[in-house]
Amino acid sequence: MQCSWKAVLLLALASVAIQYTAIRTLTSKPFQLCPLPSPQNCGLPGGPETEPPFDGRGGCDDYPYFNFSASRKTHILVLATTRSGSSFVGQLLNQHADVFYLFEPLYHVQTALIPRLSHSRNAADRRVMLGASRDLLRSLYGCDLYFLESYIKPPPANHTTDKLFRRGASRALCSQPVCDAFGPVDGNVEEGDCVKKCAALNMSLAADACREKRSVAIKIVRVPEIGDLRALVEDPRLNIKVIQLVRDPRGILSSRIETFRDTYRLWRIWRATGRRPYNLDLSQLTVVCEDFLSSVSTGLSNPHWLKGKYMLVRYEDLARNPLPKTREIYNYLGLPMDKNVEQWIQANTRGSTELSAKHKYGTVRDSAANAESWRLKLSYDMVEYTQATCQKVLHQLGYSAVKSAEELKNMSLSLVQDKTFVPFS
Ligand SMILES: *[C@@H]1O[C@H](CO)[C@@H](O)[C@H](O)[C@H]1NC(C)=O
Ligand SMILES: *[C@@H]1O[C@H](CO)[C@@H](O)[C@H](O)[C@H]1NC(C)=O
Ligand SMILES: *[C@@H]1O[C@H](CO)[C@@H](O)[C@H](O)[C@H]1NC(C)=O
Ligand SMILES: *[C@@H]1O[C@H](CO)[C@@H](O)[C@H](O)[C@H]1NC(C)=O
Repeated sequence: MQCSWKAVLLLALASVAIQYTAIRTLTSKPFQLCPLPSPQNCGLPGGPETEPPFDGRGGCDDYPYFNFSASRKTHILVLATTRSGSSFVGQLLNQHADVFYLFEPLYHVQTALIPRLSHSRNAADRRVMLGASRDLLRSLYGCDLYFLESYIKPPPANHTTDKLFRRGASRALCSQPVCDAFGPVDGNVEEGDCVKKCAALNMSLAADACREKRSVAIKIVRVPEIGDLRALVEDPRLNIKVIQLVRDPRGILSSRIETFRDTYRLWRIWRATGRRPYNLDLSQLTVVCEDFLSSVSTGLSNPHWLKGKYMLVRYEDLARNPLPKTREIYNYLGLPMDKNVEQWIQANTRGSTELSAKHKYGTVRDSAANAESWRLKLSYDMVEYTQATCQKVLHQLGYSAVKSAEELKNMSLSLVQDKTFVPFS
């Protein structure tokens, strides 16, 4: 038996795929290294098995069927939080012809493992979620999409599912050969059209498409801070480049109030009545600021393990100067920017710098232009409260506080200080 006894034991213990993942996450060091696998001692990909992914995998501790060092792929990780402009950044990567993009696959981990987690900071829940997340990310970077299936409900049959979260946000999953509904001339497929017109997603085809691309980009909003990803960043088989996206917490708050109407109901009441409800869940705000603070502090302290692998991006900078900022991002990633990306920026932001400078606060029809619209939407006391709560992180990221309602509503007064966060290499 060439495979490790631990893996064999775990396989025997685990009849259900999810359990296997959870058990492994808790019992073994989740990120231990496994010697580079070879087809002789581990199950081959796409073997004859029709069972869920964990069977027929031989017993390698890790992922037997891809060869990271051979792939020379760039593994891009967009570390973000909800309503921080991450869809926009995701698009800047998704539009690239040689990038395989996935929109928050960790959604499935959360719904499978800890359905009620949404606000839980319970340490054990968090650990399970993080361990499973890192395992999943690692396998996705290797284009092993079968691994993801164990988290999808209902479980995909014959490696086919119509339940992949936000499939339509991924260009590769909405175009040939993964989806036959659109030809190359159809250009950019709307997310809704993709979901409506493409047949159920064939995970084998999707994995093939992934392997064809030079880079895999994954956007996540369920990992609190960069420190949680250290094991992944340090994994020598991966070539991770982290893009940490931040945004003014006042903008995040405002955007969440608009978007998550139920969860942020009390904040709307505050806004409407001018009185702060006594039972307001303040952690909905403080968590964002605490996570940013610890993450950015780590990132900017230049630890050796992030050398050349960390770039801090403020959403507001992208919104103001989408094209130059995007070039900077691609430069950091070591990828040539392609014309699809440029065209997408042109179409969605009125791209050119000159224009967006002139129309900085005008009604440009993209999300980026709304980066500072929170100033017109939040009341002054909400802003004041947020500034007090998030003082440190505002300062660290170069966002100015306002001292009066007049300042808040005066859009010619910029609250975003010029600041460069140079990625070190
Ligand atoms: C992985 O790729 C390297 C470089 O191409 C190659 O030398 C090695 O044999 C490959 N390993 C396996 C297990 O395929
Ligand atoms: C899966 O494929 C097998 C063999 O092609 C077929 O008999 C079975 O009905 C399929 N299952 C589903 C749920 O489509
Ligand atoms: C998915 O695609 C693979 C590769 O082309 C094919 O062999 C398989 O039959 C497809 N699965 C289904 C359920 O259509
Ligand atoms: C708005 O801010 C600008 C820039 O600081 C300032 O010059 C202007 O007087 C302010 N307008 C009002 C109405 O306060």
